[in-house]
Amino acid sequence: MQVKAKLVREVGNWVSGDRFWNREQEVWDLKELLGEGANVLIAAPRRVGKTSLMRKLCEELEKGDYRCLFLDLQRSQSGEDAVVELGVATRPHQTLWDRAKELVRDRAERIESLGTEEFKLTFREHLKQNWQAKGERLFDALAGDDRPVVVFMDELPILVNRLLKADEYTITPERRKLTDEFLSFLRGQTIKHRSKIRLVVAGSIGLEPVLRQAGLSATVNTFTPYELRPWDEETAMGCLEALANNYSVVLREGAARRMVEKLGSCIPHHVQMFFNHVYNDTKRRAQHEVSLEDVDRVYMHSMLSTRGHAELSHMEERLKLVLGQRDLPLTLDLLTEAAVVGVLTPGASMALARDNAAAAEPGASAEKPQDVLRRVMDVLKHDGYLVDNDAGAFVFASLLLRDWWKGRFAAQFTPAAARGGP
Ligand SMILES: Nc1ncnc2c1ncn2[C@@H]1O[C@H](COP(=O)(O)OP(=O)(O)OP(=O)(O)O)[C@@H](O)[C@H]1O
Ligand SMILES: [Mg+2]
Repeated sequence: MQVKAKLVREVGNWVSGDRFWNREQEVWDLKELLGEGANVLIAAPRRVGKTSLMRKLCEELEKGDYRCLFLDLQRSQSGEDAVVELGVATRPHQTLWDRAKELVRDRAERIESLGTEEFKLTFREHLKQNWQAKGERLFDALAGDDRPVVVFMDELPILVNRLLKADEYTITPERRKLTDEFLSFLRGQTIKHRSKIRLVVAGSIGLEPVLRQAGLSATVNTFTPYELRPWDEETAMGCLEALANNYSVVLREGAARRMVEKLGSCIPHHVQMFFNHVYNDTKRRAQHEVSLEDVDRVYMHSMLSTRGHAELSHMEERLKLVLGQRDLPLTLDLLTEAAVVGVLTPGASMALARDNAAAAEPGASAEKPQDVLRRVMDVLKHDGYLVDNDAGAFVFASLLLRDWWKGRFAAQFTPAAARGGP
């Protein structure tokens, strides 16, 4: 008899061990790429499981010939900060940690007993002048190891976006120069240590659209893009069954498929959220079984309730990071049009872009509406919000996201066709 799989639920944090589902193919693909010496840039929609996959890959690679360093650059402000994080990330590997500490020998009394926090402060001080040359020494030290080193940089795009735009969300020539220097530094290191060091980059915003905005795409041309997609239907249904099995929930015939159909796009985080709501509902009803009607009711009353609004606020905040305050109204309009009308046509997009340009403060920007539109659509497509419907227009990739969006913004919105433009 086949033993049915079990999965422990998790809604929010990255997952590992008995909470991690599937992704064998992706782990295989990425291992293969790294084995061939590639640096990898993972492109994916939000909440698809980038961090979890990178952690999993880390674990798998360490069972083999690699040493892996994991950096979360979400809070880093500068190139120096990233190098500090890289130094700190050597901590789990004694030989690499010893080498990193060697770099601050002149500044510390006894490097042998230096703790992580102390090292961080000392290293930061050390990097105050000429951080690039000193950062290069750290990379040299990593490359001196007997094993190849893979450096995972989660949320590098957030750091790059911050370097480029600061808190005003605007690109200035100085910020562009700083960003160029930082990315060229990383690029230089990957070229210099091609046979020993590989980088794997991902983030909750796409790096490529951000760099296109600044004309800096060439700085990442040593990276191989890898597209991480939502689960397919079978995988998502397998996940739901494994979750159900672990919590003694019985999904009646067709219930798992119905859940997947409701989502439209099987973003792992949404699959887990849906199960969680269904499970809580069985507890409220004091029953184990879940019918198609239960699924529909839970979708309507729980999935589309306030919880979705928290997710949306986070999405809006990420869109604002990438596109800035000025492009945000058009961004929201385009998504609302797609949610309310069900489709975003080129004509409607252009009408909304003109409308937004006309509504902007006089002299706010000399940019043509079609250029603004191109920039916004680049992000919405790249980051997986909208997909081509094969008829020359765009629709939401995720039906859940579409329904959330509609619930939140439809009331105050006039679709392009009803605006009576010029
Ligand atoms: N392989 C997986 N198995 C089970 N659940 C997963 C898996 N990957 C992602 N999830 C679900 O998605 C949630 C978010 O995962 P994770 O933080 O890895 O995503 P992310 O793509 O890095 O998100 P963000 O866009 O916010 O950076 C997890 O809490 C879990 O609910
Ligand atoms: Mg993440």
